[in-house]
Amino acid sequence: MQIIVCKDYEEMSIRAAELAAEGIRENPEALVSFPGGDTPLGMVHAFADMVNAGDVNISRARYVSLDEWVGLSGTDEGSCGIFNRAELLDRLQKPFKEVHIINGAAADIEDERKALDEYIAKYGPLEVSVLGIGMNGHLGFNEDGVSFELDAHIIPLSETTKKVMSKYFGEKFHPEYGISQGIRQIMAAKRVILIANGAHKADILAKACRGEVTNRVPASILQRHPNCFVVADEAAAAQL
Ligand code: PGA
Repeated sequence: MQIIVCKDYEEMSIRAAELAAEGIRENPEALVSFPGGDTPLGMVHAFADMVNAGDVNISRARYVSLDEWVGLSGTDEGSCGIFNRAELLDRLQKPFKEVHIINGAAADIEDERKALDEYIAKYGPLEVSVLGIGMNGHLGFNEDGVSFELDAHIIPLSETTKKVMSKYFGEKFHPEYGISQGIRQIMAAKRVILIANGAHKADILAKACRGEVTNRVPASILQRHPNCFVVADEAAAAQL
């Protein structure tokens, strides 16, 4: 793991976007995946600015979403899909060649899971996988206790995730399951960029980077990834 400590959220966002762009420059036909949520907001905006400024050419690259709440389509409020569209894809003046956004409200969620696997198998492995870390150490919806051998899967959400993530829905939606790329697909990525900010992430980030590799802290598996960057602001990096 290469740990990069940034002075604040803005610097973390720019540094992570630069690392993602670097991966695409190495392979212009890259398959790329970014997370949704609060942590990556600045990073995806910085990335879109870089694309629009001509710093990185994504016209031959493909984008696949990392995860989604089961029950939400990619246009529903609070969904990862709507985050992908509004904060990244709609901002791009020069779009990706193709995008695959998970539909968590698909009539047959198992078909949706297979479609995600097939997409990654066809255009992958991922060249660039940007990830956030949950308060329980999850990556995407690879919750604590997940098997490291899984590809795309549907998984019950942990109590921590349900509680922390209620910030995205309030009382409007109570997700029980997530659909997510699996650890196997993440570990097969050529370049992984884990981003974290804020003092509330310091403890779990230290466990992930310095603790035992265990599926109780799914992000700890990244210690075994050959090309993983951890980009954190000073507050999140405080215990590293
Ligand atoms: P957050 O989530 O951006 O809401 O902190 C991170 C994650 O769960 O991956």
